[in-house]
Amino acid sequence: MAAAGNLAATILDEIAALVTPGVSTGELDKFIEDRVNAAGATSATIGYKGYKHASCISLNHVVCHGIPGEKTLKAGDIVNIDVTVIVDGWFGDTSRMYVAGGKPSRKAERLIEVTHDALMLGIEAAKPGNTFGDIGHAIQSYVEAQRMSVVRDFCGHGLGVVFHAPPNVLHYGRAGTGPVLEEGMFFTIEPMVNLGRPETKILADDWTAVTRDKSLSAQFEHSIGITANGADIFTLSPTGKFHPTY
Ligand code: MF3
Ligand code: CO
Ligand code: CO
Repeated sequence: MAAAGNLAATILDEIAALVTPGVSTGELDKFIEDRVNAAGATSATIGYKGYKHASCISLNHVVCHGIPGEKTLKAGDIVNIDVTVIVDGWFGDTSRMYVAGGKPSRKAERLIEVTHDALMLGIEAAKPGNTFGDIGHAIQSYVEAQRMSVVRDFCGHGLGVVFHAPPNVLHYGRAGTGPVLEEGMFFTIEPMVNLGRPETKILADDWTAVTRDKSLSAQFEHSIGITANGADIFTLSPTGKFHPTY
């Protein structure tokens, strides 16, 4: 899990320099696919339920599962890039936010910051004896106190030698509810936060999820493992780039 997480995080570090105005999302995906292959690893998403790309790239009001292609980035676009790799059979799944041209609007910057903080608060709640509801509650209560909303239609997931395993890791919920966390569990936490309402819809391509009200959406994702007294993060940025700086 550490090796797989580290490769996925390294690729997200490396791609930061390429997320600039004018680049196409297809070019970014090509870099990712080549980099996974160069490492002797496998993309978990190519061939997954018919998906054909090594990443999901979700711009602005796209919540998740944006399909890479011809579309080019404009200055100020906010971009989530989500990469999942398989190393020796183990899965590493992580995503981060980038800003094309490096300078977001103030509200976009705030959205990105709140989403990142929400993920880290969820991870702080991830320890033996707590429940999955405690993780969801930590995320939801923080996000809603910032007058933003948590997407309900997608969730984190168990992973390990499979991509999407039980349980569903909800990013909302009531403290003390749900399964109890135990040492040795591996799963993702990947909150999606909207500036407007939480509802989403899927576009005609059957993948791209967007906010119904067209408000901006952000997401961060880590793969973690529960330890004796907390959690290990397998997808930490090796160069400290996980949280964008402007
Ligand atoms: N990486 C996504 C997740 O966090 C799943 C992408 S599946 C794909 O679970 F097929 F859309 F790539
Ligand atoms: Co995931
Ligand atoms: Co992912």
